This record gives sequence, structure tokens and C-alpha cells, in this order.
Amino acid sequence: EEWKERGAAVGVRQEVDANGQIVNRPMKKGVKDFNFGRTLGEGSYSTVLAATDRQTMREYAIKVLDKKHIIKEKKVKYVNIEKDTLNRLTDHPGIVRLYYTFQDERSLYFVLDLASGGELLGVLKQYTTFDEECTRFYSAEILDAVDYMHRQGVIHRDLKPENVLLDSHMHVKITDFGTAKILDPPKNEGIGIAAGDPMDGANTDRAMSFVGTAEYVSPELLTEKNACKASDLWAFGCIIYQLLAGRPPFKASNEYQTFQKIVALDYVFPDGFPESARDLVERLLVLDPAQRLPMEHIKNHQFFAGVTWGKGLWKLKAPRLK
Ligand code: ADE
Repeated sequence: EEWKERGAAVGVRQEVDANGQIVNRPMKKGVKDFNFGRTLGEGSYSTVLAATDRQTMREYAIKVLDKKHIIKEKKVKYVNIEKDTLNRLTDHPGIVRLYYTFQDERSLYFVLDLASGGELLGVLKQYTTFDEECTRFYSAEILDAVDYMHRQGVIHRDLKPENVLLDSHMHVKITDFGTAKILDPPKNEGIGIAAGDPMDGANTDRAMSFVGTAEYVSPELLTEKNACKASDLWAFGCIIYQLLAGRPPFKASNEYQTFQKIVALDYVFPDGFPESARDLVERLLVLDPAQRLPMEHIKNHQFFAGVTWGKGLWKLKAPRLK
């Protein structure tokens, strides 16, 4: 209905034309170009399947969305947000890349990077907790990817260990941009409003009803119904805490009680929580988003001492989990 194919990625096939010249023929991919395999995940509006491109034998994850269901449940907007944000975030190893989109009568298809290591949450549960070295590595990769998305004018709004996938070499790939917010116009970071300022994009989100996953929701979303770049950094603080403690900082038997804990900043550190990680988390889990540690200060925090930000991080061998 409202779904439009705009600027969809196309493959290129080299063919020899009638004059013996090699020509690049743009080639729209479709369902027939893939062999579909195992189910990787199931959401309320979608199923993710492993698939192989029959021409190249490259493996992908294909997210299949049921059009009727999306229209009936009024989720067309969110599907378009996911496509638009992914199309803005094509140049970072830490974000699941969108290669092609297409559709048939029944479904929409997003052809994505395959993250064969699964969710960070699953790996964490397998090991119960991460040590300081593993926490530093995984959280540094998450932060590097979040910094890139923020620079591209995208707020994720639902960062959590389920949305952090791992590739075959255990490098991070952030997914699920269906509830992201695109800030417009793309901002000039250096002047005017400081990075991480709560007014970043505050103008675009008046009628917002979306609330992310309870345990990672920022206090400003609960009290002001407004998310900003700093809201992702609150969730990032929750993730660092969870990797080291084995559970998120704010957890109760129901959502309402979880929200009450969040707005009261009601959490404690378990014994043995590393000192520099504690200091960083305390500077991220700050109720006022304007007082939260901004991106560049996080990168320079002693917890991340020795981390080389940018390309180097993604060339490292992932530390062995213990
Ligand atoms: N589950 C959801 N998205 C996925 C992806 N891109 N790769 C692997 N598993 C997934």
C-alpha cells in the first residue's frame, strides 16, 4: 500500500553486448535469486532466514515481513524507518548492512549481513558474565558503531544485548532499526548544540508513543517522552553493567516496577564490579541526559584505556570468552 521501492540496491552483472563490449547491467534481485535456509529469528512482524545468493553463493540473512500484517497493525511507518536508517548506515562494520530490498505479493524482503554468531545476549547467558577484557572489547565495538550512527544522524532507541549480533569472527553487528529516529537536518557536530545535548532532534518527535525495552529505557523517555542521542548512551551504560554483572541494572518483576526503579536511579553494583567500569557506568546512568558523559569523554574514559577507536578495533582478534 504505502510501501514504495525507492533507490533499492541493485546488483551488477557484467555481460558482453552485441559489439563485444563488456557492459554492467543493473540487476534487481528477487526471491528467485536466493536459496532460503534455516530460521535465524522471529519477531512479531517478521521472520529472519538464512539465505544464499544463487549466483555468488554469498550468504545473507533475509528479513521477511508480511505486508498484510504490517498494514493491519499500522507498522508501515516503522518498516520504512528501518529501511531508511539502514540505507544511511552502509559504511560501518559494526552495523548490519542492507544490501537489497524487494517484495512479492505477500512479503517485503530485506537482504542483510548474516551475523552467524547470534545475539550478544545468548553468548552472555552462555558465560553468565564477561570479564573486564571481554566487556571492554564488546562495549568498545558497540560504542564505535553507536558513534557512527549518531554522526549519521540516527538514534537507535532500542539498544540492548538482543540487538547486538555477532559475526563469524565475534565482531559486533548492531541490528533492529525499526524504532530508530532520523535526526534532520544532518547536524554540524563541532558548533552550536553540543554532541549528546538532549535537544538534539527534540523537534522531530512530538507525538511519540514508542517506548523501547523496559530494562534499557532512559528516564527522559519515561518522564519527557523524548529520546535523544544521550538516551542511547544510557542504554549503553546498562549494557556495560549487564556484561559485567550478568543482569541489567534495573530489573523488576514487571515493567511498571522497572520504570519506577529507573526514574529513582535505584540500582546497586555487585561486589567485585571493576572500579573503572563502575566509574564509567555511574557517569552514564545519570538521570539528566544533559549531564550524561558525552561520546568523546566516554571514549577517553580510563575504562577504555588502550582501545584504538575506529578501523583498528575491527581488525583485532576478538578476545577468548572465559
Ligand atoms: N537474526 C536477526 N537478524 C539476523 C542477522 N542479520 N543475522 C543473523 N541472525 C539474525
